Amino acid sequence: MFFKGFSRRRLAKIAAWSALGISASTAGAARQPAASAPNFRGGNPAAFPKDFLWGTATSSYQIEGAVNEDGRGLSIWDRFVHLPGKIIDRSTADVANDHYHRYKEDVQLIRELGAKAYRFSIAWPRVFPEGGGTPNAKGLDFYSRLIDELLANGIEPFATLYHWDLPQALQDRYGGWRSRDTAKAFADYAGYVTARISDRVKHIFTINECARLVQAGFGTGLDAPGLNLPQKEINQVRHHVALGHGLAVQAVRAHGRAGTKVGPAENVEVCIPAIETPANIRAAEIAARELNAGYLTVILEGKYTEAFLAYAGANAPSFTADDLKTISSPIDFVGINVYMPNQYVVAAEDGSPFRLLPFAPTYPHMDSNWLRIGPEAMYWGPRHVAKLWNVQSIYITENGTSAADQVTADGKVYDIDRIMYLRNYLSHLARATSEGLPIKGYFLWSLMDNFEWSDGYEKRFGLYHVNFETQRRTPKLSASFYREVIKRNAVV
Ligand code: NOJ
Repeated sequence: MFFKGFSRRRLAKIAAWSALGISASTAGAARQPAASAPNFRGGNPAAFPKDFLWGTATSSYQIEGAVNEDGRGLSIWDRFVHLPGKIIDRSTADVANDHYHRYKEDVQLIRELGAKAYRFSIAWPRVFPEGGGTPNAKGLDFYSRLIDELLANGIEPFATLYHWDLPQALQDRYGGWRSRDTAKAFADYAGYVTARISDRVKHIFTINECARLVQAGFGTGLDAPGLNLPQKEINQVRHHVALGHGLAVQAVRAHGRAGTKVGPAENVEVCIPAIETPANIRAAEIAARELNAGYLTVILEGKYTEAFLAYAGANAPSFTADDLKTISSPIDFVGINVYMPNQYVVAAEDGSPFRLLPFAPTYPHMDSNWLRIGPEAMYWGPRHVAKLWNVQSIYITENGTSAADQVTADGKVYDIDRIMYLRNYLSHLARATSEGLPIKGYFLWSLMDNFEWSDGYEKRFGLYHVNFETQRRTPKLSASFYREVIKRNAVV
């Protein structure tokens, strides 16, 4: 053997590579980074930064129930779920997970995971049953007790001010987000809440998923308030939501204790270079900026992009220079919900800045039809945010999957599909943090199965299985997986 140390197989491989014009060292480099490459942190490429914050997430309407208790007002979702044909399994969230009464037990579920943070949302109609005016003290009391319970258990509370449960009174009075008056009412509510919780809550998210609430609430009508508006009005609604975000940021600053941090929690449109070449990466960045133009881009740049305005044409929203200033009020972090690849992108050959590729009918998805599998979304989502806008602090405010979970005869739930999904997404999150992207924490959606909007209780996203007849919570295998991830601070 003259090539000492090389097996016959290895030699055959080198021959094949050189036929393709690839040298052995290049091929090796592509597969295996050198030991000095940044993703080998302490010898473990799957490890996360030391102070990385692991959490779980829920939202008020999806878990609380108790819709008529302690003076809570009606929300647009209460009205919507009781209309015929809106919810697939004809369910409502009148009881949901009964979390309003069981919050102490649920805090123990978080604690058992070893999670150090919890993202929950505050129901506006509990605090202001009429949307504004006289507050209902008992409403905020509930969140105050929840916050105390979390802190007593070593869990840091992260509060979302708006996760879609708009007071019905504002829908009736102003047409909800169709009017800028709702944006103003949102700021008043934000200031009121912040003044009372920022002694204990240091991170506040303004609005959850503007993109979905606008599209599904006012475009397709699949979510409350269930409208099908023309494009111009949809764009106007989105502008009002962005304005509501900006006004709320200012209200949090005005009423929060020193050190209170605030930012959005958006389902960023994730644009992935189909093949990682410099030209495709650039194209994906431009696509990310344009496809998020109606919300994140205007928040972070203080203007609607030229392409957005040109594309919208006569349907562009009406706005003032002052609005743009408000919308782009400085924020402390960007929260992004990352579930799937929204777009695969390549550089265009016809002079356009990018080309979006179609999804094949066979493209795989999880139990929810919309939930395409594409773990690299977890890398490109935050990377575009950090790179395009020089954002220094990012939270993954949601990630997770539905699965058709079954409790088996031994009383356990073996959700290995969820573990597969999470492991792959977390590996790309590890890639992102190992390259130094400023991601501070991750909130797994969701702590427990809950009311999945128009899918009712048919789609389960929880780490804990919930029997909605008995309210029994059972940890799934994925809960053990996540506990291990948290314990080792690494993908396992
Ligand atoms: C994002 C939403 O914020 C949350 O309410 C929903 O349950 C999950 N996506 C899963 O669809």
